Amino acid sequence: MNFHIRRMTVEDVPAVTQLDRISFTLPWTERSFHFEVTSNPASRCWVAESGRVLAGVVVAWLLVDEVHIATIATHPDFRRQGIAQALLAHVLKLGAEEGAISSFLEVRESNSAAQALYRKFGYEETGRRPRYYKDNGESAILMTLENLQDRVDTETGNR
Ligand SMILES: CC(C)(COP(=O)(O)OP(=O)(O)OC[C@H]1O[C@@H](n2cnc3c(N)ncnc32)[C@H](O)[C@@H]1OP(=O)(O)O)[C@@H](O)C(=O)NCCC(=O)NCCS
Repeated sequence: MNFHIRRMTVEDVPAVTQLDRISFTLPWTERSFHFEVTSNPASRCWVAESGRVLAGVVVAWLLVDEVHIATIATHPDFRRQGIAQALLAHVLKLGAEEGAISSFLEVRESNSAAQALYRKFGYEETGRRPRYYKDNGESAILMTLENLQDRVDTETGNR
């Protein structure tokens, strides 16, 4: 399956919001994606496109020397084809080039697919936030990837 990764634009925001809605029980608003693309200096927003279809999205925040994965999703029709892996590899590599030394994220306790993705990159569980998610009271697992500078060359997940 062919796809390519490019920077998210304001024109992508409606489709990105739609993808987010079908991917999460607590989706972001269109306004939040708009803010990320236009006004958040820390934000690094990328999409994966297959033909003209928006197949995946990642928003990462570069916070001092850390890449925080704010959201990542692949359209259900395009899952298990390496898109999230490619998007994650992309933002980690660019983050490392911008000086980041670690990466951090929160993931639902029940989200085994996402946890498997993160473990593949070397993220490890470093904490928990009990009852973090407001819809069902589920806990968040905090995952961290250290030594980003050493890892991105060998674990970019490029296929
Ligand atoms: C999690 C998610 C982003 C994965 O996207 P994807 O494009 O299908 O993932 P990839 O094809 O790049 O998978 C890369 C690796 O992640 C792991 N993985 C992905 N989906 C998995 C699943 N359903 N079950 C087990 N492992 C999975 C595997 O290790 C996989 O490598 P492999 O295919 O060689 O075994 C996607 O399922 C999704 O959008 N889910 C809803 C949104 C979400 O939960 N986002 C994460 C929030 S923290």
